[in-house]
Amino acid sequence: MSIRIDSAPRVAASSNSQWCIDMGPKRIRACGTPRRAGAGTVRPMQLQGKHILLGMSGGIACYKVAELVRLLGKAGATVQVVMSEGAEAFITPVTMQALSNHRVVTSQWDALEPNNMAHINLSRQADLMLIAPASADMIAKLAQGRADEVLSLTALARPIERCPLLIAPAMNREMWAHPATQRNLAQVQADGARVLGVGTGDQACGEVGDGRMLEAAELLDEVIAHFQPKLLAGKSLLITAGPTFEPIDPVRGITNLSSGKMGFAIARAAAEAGAKVTLVAGPVHLPTPRHVRRIDVQTARQMFDAVMPEVAAHDVFVATAAVADWRPIHASAHKIKKDVSREGKGANATFELTENPDILAAVGHLPSAPLCIGFAAESEKLAEHARAKLVRKKAALIVGNIGPATFGRDDNALLLVDAEGEREIPHNDKLSLARELVREIAKKLQ
Ligand code: CTP
Repeated sequence: MSIRIDSAPRVAASSNSQWCIDMGPKRIRACGTPRRAGAGTVRPMQLQGKHILLGMSGGIACYKVAELVRLLGKAGATVQVVMSEGAEAFITPVTMQALSNHRVVTSQWDALEPNNMAHINLSRQADLMLIAPASADMIAKLAQGRADEVLSLTALARPIERCPLLIAPAMNREMWAHPATQRNLAQVQADGARVLGVGTGDQACGEVGDGRMLEAAELLDEVIAHFQPKLLAGKSLLITAGPTFEPIDPVRGITNLSSGKMGFAIARAAAEAGAKVTLVAGPVHLPTPRHVRRIDVQTARQMFDAVMPEVAAHDVFVATAAVADWRPIHASAHKIKKDVSREGKGANATFELTENPDILAAVGHLPSAPLCIGFAAESEKLAEHARAKLVRKKAALIVGNIGPATFGRDDNALLLVDAEGEREIPHNDKLSLARELVREIAKKLQ
């Protein structure tokens, strides 16, 4: 195939020096820089009806918890804050009460509780207890089952089965690495608590290393993930996402309008469902979902080379990537200059294209192929094209959608096409759709 570029109007230049080649229904976008993800986020109330008991012990990371309370509230949760004396040295109960809209409990001798047993009452209403920040001292208390102040007392008094405990440690790197802390962490985990891990980087003390508390948004994601059913526990998923970018020269290439959002949402939903997830991503501007291993690639061939060695280690392959079907046969080592391309050809330039490998078809035709799920981004005859791809690529399921209606957006509507028939998943945000697909994948794995 070859693309002929005339001076105008087929090539539209924009102020940021991007330019596009429109090829009708299957739009190929050739541009100088990969595309940014679109705006307009749909945010469902993911914690609607959940009651979170949020314990704070002493640490500079208390300032992050103010934001966390806001995020939990926005996600629909009610938040009851319990503060240790140490936490009060870093942030006031007034701030936490204003943000949580609930009276903050700071003492086990709280006379305002009718039965004077705040430590019992609090956890009886909670769906989850999160201690953030969890200081080294608080973790030691939890490990020993101590009950000499309100927070450790409340943790000890909670019904373990009904009110699970998440711990977000925060401390200096030496305190984190100390064998005593690691021993205490192992003990609280053995007792059923889940330790959320720590971040790495600059610490308040001026040192650099492990021990920073996770950011508020990361903690929110952990809380949301906690409530998702573990439908894919013990399973592993390999997922491709985003567009590919096929260089024409060092500053231009062929790509498409895929933002990668659906693939990233599936990676997140699968990780939340307990799967081990590897995400092979084309050029996108999206953060890696928590607990997902990410491999970044640019071209279709790089995506193929990244996927094939991983296939054997995974139970499921989900191909959401909008892989460029063609690439220029010769990518120029230097920027193609207008004056050179015009030589003897007037204002036109011609690029010869060759076909890229079909990654889903290659995986689907392997003798020991994993469960293969493909996508079909169409502009018309969705069911017909999706079914043809199901057969051609030997997939167990093709997820059809109208490409131009979804690229870059946060919502979509899907048509599931498999050997049994067709099923529509109505319009929803991409994370909810991804969770629906996870349910479908879990069913197919049974
Ligand atoms: N796919 C792939 N490798 C390619 C092309 C497509 O893995 N080189 C995968 C996509 O990730 C998707 C499915 O195949 O899961 C269908 O992709 P789509 O672009 O809709 O279809 P094509 O196979 O490219 O066919 P056509 O362009 O004719 O619609």
